[in-house]
Amino acid sequence: MTQFNSQLTTESAQRTDIDEQWWKEAAVYQIYPRSFNDSDGDGVGDIPGITEKADYLDDLGVDVVWLCPVYESPNADNGYDISDYRSIMDEFGTMADWEELLAELHARDIRLIMDLVVNHTSKQHEWFQQSRRREGEFEDYYHWVDGTPDEPPNNWKSVFGGPAWTYDEERGQWYLHLFDPEQPDLNWRNPDVRDAITEMVTWWLEKGIDGFRLDAIDHLSKADGYPDGDPDEPIVGVEHFSHGPRLPEYLDELAAAFEDYDTMTVGEMGGADIEQVDDFAGDDGLDMIFQFEHMGIDAGPDGPWDPEQFGEWELGDLKEIISQQQNQIDWPTLFFGNHDQPRPVSRFGDESYHAESATLIATLLLTLRGTPYIYQGEEIGMTNNEFDGLEEIDDPMTVGAVDDLIADGVVDSYEEVADLVNYQSRDHARTPMQWDDTENADFTDENPWFDLNENFDEINVEALRSDADSIWQHYQDLIDLRQAEDVLVYGDYDLLLPDHDQFYAYQRTLDDERFVIVLNWSNEPATFDADVEAIDSEILISNYSDSPSTPSGEAFRPYEAVVYRC
Ligand code: GLC
Repeated sequence: MTQFNSQLTTESAQRTDIDEQWWKEAAVYQIYPRSFNDSDGDGVGDIPGITEKADYLDDLGVDVVWLCPVYESPNADNGYDISDYRSIMDEFGTMADWEELLAELHARDIRLIMDLVVNHTSKQHEWFQQSRRREGEFEDYYHWVDGTPDEPPNNWKSVFGGPAWTYDEERGQWYLHLFDPEQPDLNWRNPDVRDAITEMVTWWLEKGIDGFRLDAIDHLSKADGYPDGDPDEPIVGVEHFSHGPRLPEYLDELAAAFEDYDTMTVGEMGGADIEQVDDFAGDDGLDMIFQFEHMGIDAGPDGPWDPEQFGEWELGDLKEIISQQQNQIDWPTLFFGNHDQPRPVSRFGDESYHAESATLIATLLLTLRGTPYIYQGEEIGMTNNEFDGLEEIDDPMTVGAVDDLIADGVVDSYEEVADLVNYQSRDHARTPMQWDDTENADFTDENPWFDLNENFDEINVEALRSDADSIWQHYQDLIDLRQAEDVLVYGDYDLLLPDHDQFYAYQRTLDDERFVIVLNWSNEPATFDADVEAIDSEILISNYSDSPSTPSGEAFRPYEAVVYRC
């Protein structure tokens, strides 16, 4: 007999018209190829290395792989700077390797979505090379603006720090790059650019892929002209280059390219409010949007690179934001990490309750309404790394952010922001995957491109898979449960005990099915002692192997997470 409070904060939307889709029922696994598995001993993960792990992915139970960019690239931003959309980066293998990967995944009923980076290309892309020489149709493929070499066209800042403009001597004009200077922004105002992208998208769809994750998609449309940005914005100019006036039109055009294919599409929108998501996703748009509000709860007023304030967060904020996403977004994406974020167990969990807090986060991820995205290594609770200096950092965003803080006089030296870097750097997610406790964690034979996290002797796939109560096992069980229970996929979501500062508890309901999920998100015991209504219940999953708690007066242990069928 279990009891639960029936007091709710947010009204669920009470959906009766369930629109079943394979991508709603799928668990997605994100692979950052450079750091996943090296098959040829050059220290860099590669495509045959992923194929070697196809059975691993199948055993874990995931349904879709999202492959971060594997296209030809000079790697100024690890593949997010593409120099040829139709070929594979040498370090990662060949097109034949990629075809084999697709076939091996499909043979296991795992679909494959590719990363589509079309806000910008690499400077080495043929389009840019021809554009800087003003050749033919390519002349206006990028944002070129007149000006003297000492005065950028406006005050816009790049997301990676420094000005968003670089002067190109060869063409004698400035070009826009919202990210690295090696990543010039494509000029979506030019219909030829849009046609070229549609052609390329269709080329990949014809190769049999199952969809795309669309990178930085909220930046495609820039304000008319290039008006000065508000210097008080954390990224100066963002109000003019995020969600610009023609974004809906561009996304509609892109979505039309997917129409004849059975795909899933998910757009990354770093700046979209919860209310904006359904303007871009749904019937005619993309299937889903990554909305990032919950990833900002630990940032200061100046954003994630605010040295004055970072790393503190409140459970109440997390519950409130997730509840809004759950109840306001037609089909939410679920994620607590990716290749751009610190590791969730270090950030939202507690490394001294490593297994408990990693499995608690997994429980939330896999029992909310929406499509869950597991980033490589989360299934073993990979943690943040310790970086001892800027020379250990690979990520251009981290380097640019530190440079800006020093240039703006906010701090005098790296030492003053070492803690912030160790909290925030995107490199935490990019240390190589920890397969076992042998040398280099069996990621590679020698010289990994990036140092491993030293804790691989304990935190590794082999150790966790052989333990029936491990984090890995928990992921597998939760994925299985979600696949078996429609209520976990399509059911309504209602938050329970909204004001409790230790519990994150909620119910999922579909017809007469009712699941209750109770997470004690704290390192102290907590008693579920609210005004309750008696309900029969069965424990489906718990992250403490011995007698999981029932809420009737008994204390939940630190980071205890239980899923009940009521
Ligand atoms: C997206 C990617 C990130 C990349 C950036 C520029 O935010 O997730 O890794 O650096 O776009 O392409």
